[in-house]
Amino acid sequence: MNSATTSNGRVLSGMRPTGRLHLGHYHGVLQNWVELQHDYECFFFVADWHALTTHYEDPSIIPASIWDMVVDWLAAGIDPAKATLFIQSRVMEHAELHLLLSMITPLGWLERVPTFKDQQEKLKERDLATYGFLGYPLLQSADILIYKAGLVPVGEDQVAHVELTREVARRFNHVFGREPDFAERAARARDKMGKKNAQLFDKLRKGFLEQGDQEALETARSLLEAQSNLSNADRERLRGFLEGSGRIILPEPQALLTQASKMPGLDGQKMSKSYHNTIALRDPPAQVEKALRTMPTDPARVRRTDPGDPAKCPVFQLHEVYSSAETRTWVAEGCRSAGIGCLECKQPVIEAVLAELKPIQERAREYEAQPEQVRHIIAEGNEAARAVARKTMEEVRQAMSMDFR
Ligand code: TRP
Ligand code: SF4
Repeated sequence: MNSATTSNGRVLSGMRPTGRLHLGHYHGVLQNWVELQHDYECFFFVADWHALTTHYEDPSIIPASIWDMVVDWLAAGIDPAKATLFIQSRVMEHAELHLLLSMITPLGWLERVPTFKDQQEKLKERDLATYGFLGYPLLQSADILIYKAGLVPVGEDQVAHVELTREVARRFNHVFGREPDFAERAARARDKMGKKNAQLFDKLRKGFLEQGDQEALETARSLLEAQSNLSNADRERLRGFLEGSGRIILPEPQALLTQASKMPGLDGQKMSKSYHNTIALRDPPAQVEKALRTMPTDPARVRRTDPGDPAKCPVFQLHEVYSSAETRTWVAEGCRSAGIGCLECKQPVIEAVLAELKPIQERAREYEAQPEQVRHIIAEGNEAARAVARKTMEEVRQAMSMDFR
């Protein structure tokens, strides 16, 4: 872990309000969150402003999506006694930090985030040539930095956003801060340049700091740029050291890569609403059973007596999620020899999915029956989040000379 990285065990993650969640979300993100809440201080929030960046033309669906999603979080086992659950737009400080960070964020950094062009191309029917959309990852940076989160569980597609967050934090600290054991860290970084360069660097630094020698400053800067064995953080640190600056006000977070969900959809593709192949957490059991009974199998098994190949069957992928090695062997052999029928093969999966959904649906029913309880959980979470966010903003405002009276 590099020195500008926090050792802080606070976890923060957000989800855009997409309405009711399905088993893909459960096996990908939610189970991960449920585990993390036991080991870390966790903040999980609804990224409703992020939803607005792409759905600003039809925002009316957002509120219902928010509450449906929160109920599903709770139903999946996210425990409000363990994790702080809140809504982004209810902690206005995110917007202030986003604005302040925008002052030091070069446009090129945002234009180069891969999701910017990708999403614009993917969602061609929407006009995403907006300022809000360009700023999407920077708003995410504000979400993360305002809690000084150390770990950010995200999927592969979001890693670049955490990387941007690290760069923005580094820049913020470079421009506005000083870290406590900065001198030692800088000395260690300097040593990485090798003896000759380190001595030259010291001489130039002295020339600048003691005699105000601008040329020495320029030369030292070029020297730093030319060091290929320095990490960006060390380079940033040495730049600060060279000019006499550098505290960590906003610690750099680490992405905690969420394993992609192995949960296949009913057709064997990735489970996703846009593929219409989902099992929602709150689908009634009869509907779930029917969906599984009618899902496609290896097309080679037209008749019961035709042998099949599990590798060509989406049902087998479900066995890989839900079944023991023993059951999988039973399936593989029975399928290849036509010893079992497809409905027979599906039965253990049907049972496993229904068993998994049962406690989730029981909890969901409890929360559905008391919506005011869900509102209360979120209201408390908003308050708790705000308390942390407010404190960070005091430091940020002070660092940026925006705390005057
Ligand atoms: N952009 C994330 C997504 O689409 C959601 C998000 C917003 C987020 N802010 C965040 C995730 C902060 C992690 C941390 O999934
Ligand atoms: Fe798929 Fe099972 Fe039928 Fe084989 S027996 S085709 S694995 S459902």
